[in-house]
Order: sequence, then structure tokens, then C-alpha cells
Amino acid sequence: MKLLSLRSVLEKPMVIEEISLSEMQVELGEPLVQMRGIVKIFPGVVANDNVDFDLYAGEVHALLGENGAGKTTLMNILFGLYSPDEGEIYVAGKKVEIRSPRDAIRYGIGMVHQHFKLIPTLTVAENIALSLANAPAINPSKHLVEEIERYSKRYGLEVDPSAYVWQLSVGERQRVEILKALMGGARALILDEPTTVLTPDERDELFKTLRRMADEGCGIVLITHKLEEALSVCDRITVMRNGRVVATVRPNEVVAADLAKMMVGRDVLLNYEKPPSEIGEVVLRVEGLRVLGDRGLVSVDGVSFDIRSGEVFGIAGVAGNGQSELVEAIVGLRKVESGRVEILGRDVTNQPTSRVLGLGVAYIPEHRIERGIAPDLSVVENLILKSYRNPPFSGRLAMNTDYVREWGKRLVEEYEVVTPSIDAPVKLLSGGNIQRVIIAREFSQEPKLIIASHPTYGLDVAATEYVRKKLLEQRRRGAAILLVSEDLEELLALSDRIAVMYRGRFVGVLEADEITLDRIRVMMAGEEEAS
Ligand SMILES: Nc1ncnc2c1ncn2[C@@H]1O[C@H](COP(=O)(O)OP(=O)(O)O)[C@@H](O)[C@H]1O
Ligand SMILES: [Mg+2]
Repeated sequence: MKLLSLRSVLEKPMVIEEISLSEMQVELGEPLVQMRGIVKIFPGVVANDNVDFDLYAGEVHALLGENGAGKTTLMNILFGLYSPDEGEIYVAGKKVEIRSPRDAIRYGIGMVHQHFKLIPTLTVAENIALSLANAPAINPSKHLVEEIERYSKRYGLEVDPSAYVWQLSVGERQRVEILKALMGGARALILDEPTTVLTPDERDELFKTLRRMADEGCGIVLITHKLEEALSVCDRITVMRNGRVVATVRPNEVVAADLAKMMVGRDVLLNYEKPPSEIGEVVLRVEGLRVLGDRGLVSVDGVSFDIRSGEVFGIAGVAGNGQSELVEAIVGLRKVESGRVEILGRDVTNQPTSRVLGLGVAYIPEHRIERGIAPDLSVVENLILKSYRNPPFSGRLAMNTDYVREWGKRLVEEYEVVTPSIDAPVKLLSGGNIQRVIIAREFSQEPKLIIASHPTYGLDVAATEYVRKKLLEQRRRGAAILLVSEDLEELLALSDRIAVMYRGRFVGVLEADEITLDRIRVMMAGEEEAS
């Protein structure tokens, strides 16, 4: 007991004035929080360079920028996780010092991090109780459970208070984090890249919740690197690049291309040039393919198609409709129950992956860390993963080290991989640079067939543009490309034909002149088109 009270004295934040946004009268459109001239320097980088940022009551405010722009750092400062080297913070117009998350929470500032901080072996109610100063953590009272239910209803944050956190989906866990912040009195709520872990449906639900919170007087900071998110749900958008604020704008003042340019610092292609290409021989032929999923149920149910050289064949569909299993079966990672896969006229049904890939197939897997790279090996080792046994990389007895290193350096340069050196472990690179390593390795072999599964998922604007340009370059070169993606804009921009997959089957295949966003959306819900 003594120890506890001593600790609470020592930890008592030194607050100049008692301010809490949850209890204060701040009208819609007035500032909840103002940050002025924030500077934060880490060894070797200026993460925040004289940044001003305001959050108003009633707004959803996007903090938009590429990876490394300084978004998380700025908000970690507001939440008291970092102290700024310079600059001032005002809460409801009063200057404050935020020395810890405890201070931030007392002021009414909450944050939902990219990685959740819940205890899996406790229930939802117990986790929320833990974060509230005056609630018993074990056997939370009926009152608390009712409070949770009241909050979930009010904001559309559906969760079961008695469920254990380990039983919850990622989306549900996120809702618990938001509830925790709201019930802790947060009125300024920061969410750090909240949608990267969500399905499209969960994302739409989240956005509705954010809107509701803002309408009730909260201010929401939505950290994101996705243009569409900033444009679709936010009232204002602050763009950061290299630690600085480039501009704060309203969505109706800009188009996506303007934002992309502000983020990247140069013009970015959002529309890709796709001149007609020369369509050649059939490279991949899939006939009546039937494949089981992990749970033994039919995942791919009689799918047939051809892809010719010079052609991008897109597969659209909501995740979980058999796309992953289809790709795995083609590359020999999953057993084919019946049907046939042919590459350049050769039957490769149920052949080992190494044999399939050996026929000139480039594979950009959905799970790039698990399947695309050997994380502990260096960049250069990853670049030669598929070819190190062959000349000119190896002679009869040993690897040709000098040649390999020169070649590695050239690829790193050509594919613009940002890495401290070719000897750095590949796992230390950012997602976009890991994808560049995979693409460099796969495309430098001049593949006949490219199988690309969600190739730009999670990448920032510059890396996404790069990957798409490279795919079109390969199309021009004459590769046949199978592109599986959930990103409809991507499919539309790159594909010559698009199949829509639903419950293991193709609902239909659209030819170039038939492709529209609306048609694909309808088909993704499983509705066949009268053709
Ligand atoms: N704790 C830290 N120590 C050292 N450098 C950091 C730390 N946190 C962030 N940085 C660096 O600061 C810059 C901004 O990072 P961050 O705020 O995480 O960007 P964003 O959230 O926009 O992706 C990056 O160069 C990053 O490497
Ligand atoms: Mg970040």
C-alpha cells in the first residue's frame, strides 16, 4: 500500500493547470489541440522540422505522408511518448507540457497505435478496466459492462465485453482500443494507420465510427499513407514530407494527383500508359482446376483460362474467394485435385514449385516476407536466391563472388532499392524496398510468365507507382502476367482482361472494352452478368 501511494506521488504529472478536453466547452470548429514549431531530431534524421498542426473539434483530420515522413513521431509527441526538442503544445488554447501518455490522457488525448496493446488472456471488459484509473480490473462491475455497451452502441463499435481478447479478430481488437480511449475521456483521438490491418468492410465501418465521433465533438487524427482514405473521409488533410508540413488542404480543393505530388515531391503517375501490346502465344493455360482450401473445402471450383504473351490477366474479387488457392496451385504450392495447369505447352500439374519456377516463371507472392525473401540473408543473397547455382553466378566448383557482387550492386541501382549496402539483412528494409528486391530478382531473369499476388499491398505511393510501371514494362517485353489484386483501380489500370472470382468460380471474364468499375463491383458480389 505504502509503495503504491509513494509511486502515485512520484508519478503525479506536473500539470500547470487542470485542463481536460472531455470536460471543456470547445465548440465545433474550434481548436482542441495546437502544435507549434515542433522539432524532433533522432540521431541522423530530423523527424519533425518546425511542424505546425491543429486539430479542431468536429473534424476528421488526415495526417498524410509517405513512410518516414514524420507522422508517427509528431503524434507520439502529442501523446507524450516523445518529448520535442523544440516547440509548444496548446490544449483548448492553453499551453501545456505533455510528459507522458498519462498526461495526454488527462488532457483528453487518446491514441490507438499500429500495434495494439491489449492483454490477450483478459476479457474486453477487464482490458478496459485496467486502463481506467478507478475500476477494479478483476471481475469488472456490472456498471462497467453497461458503460461499455452504452459506448459501443453510441459509436457503432460492436464488441462483446465478456469475450477474451485472444478470441477477437483484428478489427474487433481495434474497436476495443478505441473504446478504451473514449472511455478514458479522449476527445482528441489519434489513430496510426488504422486501416492497414482491416478488411474493406471493417474499414468502412471504422470510417462511419470516426465520422460519428467527430459529429459528437471529438477531433480525430487519421494517420495514413493512402490518398483515397484522406480524400474520402476527412475534413482536412495535412501532408507531410521529410519531416515538414507541405500543406493543409480540404479534400474539395485538391485531386489525388495533387496530394500524390505533395507527398512524393514530384509528379506521380496515377494513370498509367498502357499502349496496345503485341499478343502472342498462350503461356499459361488452366483447365477445369479444382483445389481444396486449408479446411478441406473446395476453394477453386472448376476454373479455366488462358493468358497469352504480352497480356495482363487480372483477377478481381473479395479476399477469400479462392484467389490465393488458385495461385498456389498454379505454382505448385498446393495440390491440384483435378484439372490441369500448362505452362508453354508443358503439363506442370502437381509439379514441384522449383520445376514450375524453373520454366521462366516469376512469382511475386502475397506473403512477401514469408515466401518472397529469406529474411535473415543479405540483400545480395536474396537477389541471387533463384540463380546462384547457375553460370555465370557459379563456376563448376564455387560461386563467382566478384561477379555476384557487381551484379547485385547493379540491380540495387537499377531497381532503386534503398539499402545501407548489398550486405545488409533484407529484413531490415522497408516493405517497399523488400518488394523492389523481389521484383529485381524475378524480373531480371526476363520471365515468360509473371504471377503477381497483391503486388502493391501496403506499399506507399512511390513504391506502388514503381511496381506498376515495372509490370507494364514486362508486359511490353512480352511476358504473360497474372495479376491478383483487391485494388480495383490497380486492376483497371493494368489489366487487358479481368476475371471476377466469387466462391471459387469465375463469375465472368470482361474483355478490355467491357471493363468498368461498376460492373466489376456487381460481379464481386456474385451476380452473374447476362452475356
Ligand atoms: N525512435 C526512433 N529513433 C530513431 N529514428 C526514428 C525513431 N522514430 C522514427 N525515426 C525516424 O524518424 C523519421 C520519421 O519516422 P516516422 O515518424 O515513424 O515516420 P512515418 O510515421 O511518417 O512513417 C524516419 O526517418 C524514422 O526512421
Ligand atoms: Mg508511422
